[in-house]
Amino acid sequence: MADLSGKTVLLGITGGIAAYKAAELARLLVKSGVTVKVVMTDSAQKFVTPVTFRTLTGNPVATSMWSDPTSPFPHISLSEEADLIVVAPATANVIARVANGVADDLLTTTILAARGTVLMAPAMNTRMYLNEKTAGNIKALKASGVVMVEPEEGQLACGDEGVGRMAEPGEIFQAVQRELARSSELAGRKVVVTAGPTREYIDPVRFISNPSTGKMGFILAGRAAKRGAGVTLISGPTELYCPPGVARVDVVTAAEMAGAVKKAVRGADVLVMAAAVADYTPAKVSPLKMKKHEGVPDIELVSTEDILKSLGVGKRRCLLVGFAAETDNVIRNAKGKLEGKGLDLIVANQVASPGSGFGADTDMAAVIGSRSERAKLRMMSKVELADEVLDRVAAILG
Ligand code: CTP
Repeated sequence: MADLSGKTVLLGITGGIAAYKAAELARLLVKSGVTVKVVMTDSAQKFVTPVTFRTLTGNPVATSMWSDPTSPFPHISLSEEADLIVVAPATANVIARVANGVADDLLTTTILAARGTVLMAPAMNTRMYLNEKTAGNIKALKASGVVMVEPEEGQLACGDEGVGRMAEPGEIFQAVQRELARSSELAGRKVVVTAGPTREYIDPVRFISNPSTGKMGFILAGRAAKRGAGVTLISGPTELYCPPGVARVDVVTAAEMAGAVKKAVRGADVLVMAAAVADYTPAKVSPLKMKKHEGVPDIELVSTEDILKSLGVGKRRCLLVGFAAETDNVIRNAKGKLEGKGLDLIVANQVASPGSGFGADTDMAAVIGSRSERAKLRMMSKVELADEVLDRVAAILG
């Protein structure tokens, strides 16, 4: 069993019959050396008592925002202490509340303030689990980086057969171990991520750009920070909020992005170029708004600098990861870019197809490390894709 001493796990228990299985999970965590803090909701206490968990963990069990007079901000201290939060069992109700940012008790408030990864082990009746509201909430939580330990099929407490039985404590424990190991995997590493589009201005009110929203780069930056990396996120114009623990640098044009990247990569271990950098820019920018009556303008375009390619030919360089946005011959074109730009990894990404590419929560993609690697596109969430990229990066860095 891996030694996880030094790590703190917050075990959140909500009101389902599987709450009794949380005792076994607490025992496994304690045995692995983890410090376990427990938060129980009111309904959880109808199934099992705080005494069970106080005895198993050796720590007081928190049950309310107001129960400890010595701690005026229990949700903040608990979320700061926790390297990881695991909610087991997670009822349909807690899943719905967390998915919607509701913070109406100690557990949901602590999750809203969480610093580390949140895992949830759903447990409920099959019809509740398959209800489209619950399915939508689970999908939204996954898209925001919550790790779901999927429930099993079988006989449920209510007598029904089907999916909804909480995963076994051993399986939840393994997921906690895996996520805790990931949480320090990039500790001490400096990661630079680019995101979003660039804008190439024609005049003060018109520009050439593309539909990139920055989603992929922002998710990558957030996931790298969760693995302990020091992350700089260089972003073109987007509507997104910077993930916690990430230093953000805003740029507008391809030239500004090139300058910011070259500065940020000094001393960096990894550069992930998820940005959709414009390939062309107007040779001249009109300082004043061009007027219609002057006729249709002839806009001369010149190439922008290929940032990755410039860095790829450098001698002392960090690990370089590119994204290949392709509409056809996706794998072949991506492999061409991997070689042509001197990269260590490339993400082949099918854009402009349903559910994949700009603005989508999912991508039809493959991560490729060499021309000879057998690669197959598969549909995955952007969070999964970010994790796959970071797994590969961590493996190369050793
Ligand atoms: N890229 C870059 N600098 C540019 C253009 C692209 O660093 N001026 C990076 C992108 O961030 C991406 C990779 O190169 O990681 C591939 O970008 P992509 O748009 O797929 O390909 P291009 O190299 O622009 O080639 P093409 O447009 O012909 O497909």
